[in-house]
Amino acid sequence: MVAWIPDNKIKEIQHTADIIDIISETVLLKKAGKNFVGLCPFHTEKTPSFTVSPAKQIFHCFGCGCGGDIFRFIMKQNGLNFPEAVTTLAGRYGIEIESQQISPAQQRRITEKEQLLDINNIAMLFFQSVLKKAQSSRKAQNYLAKRGMSEILIDKFKLGYAPSGWDNLLKHLNQKQISLSMAEKAGLIVQRKTKNGFYDRFRDRIIFPILNPGNKIIGFGGRVMDDSLPKYLNSPESPVYNKSKSLYGLHIAKSVMRETQTAYLVEGYFDVLALHLHKVNNSVATLGTSMTDAHVQLLKGCLGSEGKVILVYDSDKAGIKAALRSIPIFNQGFLEVRILVLPSGYDPDSYIMEFGKDLFLKIAADALGVIPFLIETAVKKHGVSVEGKIHILNDLIKPLAGLSDNIVKTLYIKQLAERLGINESAVLEKVKTSSIQQGNRTLGQSRAPFKRLPDIIEGQPKNSGPAATEYDVNKGINNRIEVQLLKMLLQFPEMAEEIRKKKIIDLFEDQSLKAVGKIILKHDDTAKERITDILIQVNEESQSNLIASLLLKEEVWDHKGCQRLIEQFTIRHNRHQTDLLQKIKDAEANNDIGLVTEILQSKQNKARQSDVLRRQN
Ligand code: UTP
Ligand code: MN
Repeated sequence: MVAWIPDNKIKEIQHTADIIDIISETVLLKKAGKNFVGLCPFHTEKTPSFTVSPAKQIFHCFGCGCGGDIFRFIMKQNGLNFPEAVTTLAGRYGIEIESQQISPAQQRRITEKEQLLDINNIAMLFFQSVLKKAQSSRKAQNYLAKRGMSEILIDKFKLGYAPSGWDNLLKHLNQKQISLSMAEKAGLIVQRKTKNGFYDRFRDRIIFPILNPGNKIIGFGGRVMDDSLPKYLNSPESPVYNKSKSLYGLHIAKSVMRETQTAYLVEGYFDVLALHLHKVNNSVATLGTSMTDAHVQLLKGCLGSEGKVILVYDSDKAGIKAALRSIPIFNQGFLEVRILVLPSGYDPDSYIMEFGKDLFLKIAADALGVIPFLIETAVKKHGVSVEGKIHILNDLIKPLAGLSDNIVKTLYIKQLAERLGINESAVLEKVKTSSIQQGNRTLGQSRAPFKRLPDIIEGQPKNSGPAATEYDVNKGINNRIEVQLLKMLLQFPEMAEEIRKKKIIDLFEDQSLKAVGKIILKHDDTAKERITDILIQVNEESQSNLIASLLLKEEVWDHKGCQRLIEQFTIRHNRHQTDLLQKIKDAEANNDIGLVTEILQSKQNKARQSDVLRRQN
């Protein structure tokens, strides 16, 4: 699998890159003993079970069971294959991998994404230099100045200008001998209807490059400078750009988000810019789409489990609607959300430009939690006439009934009753009836419809997700010993020689445990980088998960204990063999060929089955 990237290159990358550095870019990690823990970026959880070991340079999630080395992390996080992950990391650390080491076919496939990122970068530099130098960009410079953008901010966000005319970028890309079909794939140029040639997608627009957390340019937004439509034009989805997984400004905001455990989520490019201009640097925007699970995961990765997101949406109907729509998504992701409703007619950009940072932070501090927001929205919608109050109650009952914390529930019921000037016990009664109606359905749901207050209890990570690598669950005692033997091999390599000599691994019943055992035994038991070497050789994700989990569940090994384990395995194996032989002999004595075949087949099936189970994990 790695034949075309020389081992020494992989080693070099491994030595240079640090798993803690790389993972902390997207996951808030806290020190816990020898390891670091954080919220798993690969499944939804409230209590951190995602563990990273700096000493072993591996990660493992006790919740969902994923795990492996730094390359596996990059692969999983960005949906890359191994060579892509290696080249990505190499690029990050400025390690060169000569292209002749890759076959042309491989190179095409592997570097498509990199090529797209390169082309986007070339385009960004072009737009940037046009904005700075060209005569024709006066209008754009004036526009940005009129909107209060500073030189520093323009540089920080790499803003640019796409000149008017149909082929300015096209010519530039041609000059640079860029493949036009790749530029089309990146969404920078569009094929003419007549199919003879291309034209520029972005023309006479201010350009906002969109960067991923690794500072690579994945797409663009472009704004007109007058009232023409569409106001904003955006890059289409491409192999490197998925708007429902991207947040504008995250590459800059992530470090402050991590420090403050707070993020401001806005809707527009200029909103982000205006907030950053006022040093509210933990601000990001969705890119013309509604909130998705992936956005929430991304935010949570930077904010941690105590994190708070303040939605700053326009106070118009669409803004309120968007806020309402996104509440359940945040709740599912167990991320605390507050909703800041700006005075009517303002968006975050115009508000902070007019009133400044202090006032913005002041109203942000008063941003409402979900239930108060729902109450205020309902009051505005229905008014407080008798009919209005009935509607408001109806709107609020379900969200209130969904709250699992009784104290919180009581407090909000009180608040609602006071707000409407009605009897608290009447509201309580209504909520109770609704709770009973929602009944076990609510309790049984793995995802509460409304956020529960974060557990205050700290400590041992609880298994929240599916326990994918609990290899001993539902498996026979033989497999448990086999798993134990692998753990010993990994954690106490002194025993490897004996395991090799006695050919213990060959006797394994479980085919995928056997495969992992063989990989381990192939490596020098005394090598300093044994673990990282082993992990590189692992092709299957399930194997990587297994090895990481075995490494992190550390045990104290001594020679005697190990020998006992090997003995136990051998005795059990022999007994099993004898039993089987006896059965076959008996069947043969009875001339029962059918039974003989059955026994043999069941033995084979067993091996296959356990293999299938592993794969499903
Ligand atoms: P808004 O229309 O609220 O604009 O769109 P804005 O961000 O306040 O922009 P300015 O201040 O008028 O310049 C919010 C966001 O919705 C997306 C963009 O991401 C925009 O920032 N949008 C809007 C589009 O993608 N296309 C459009 O035509 C309009
Ligand atoms: Mn605006």
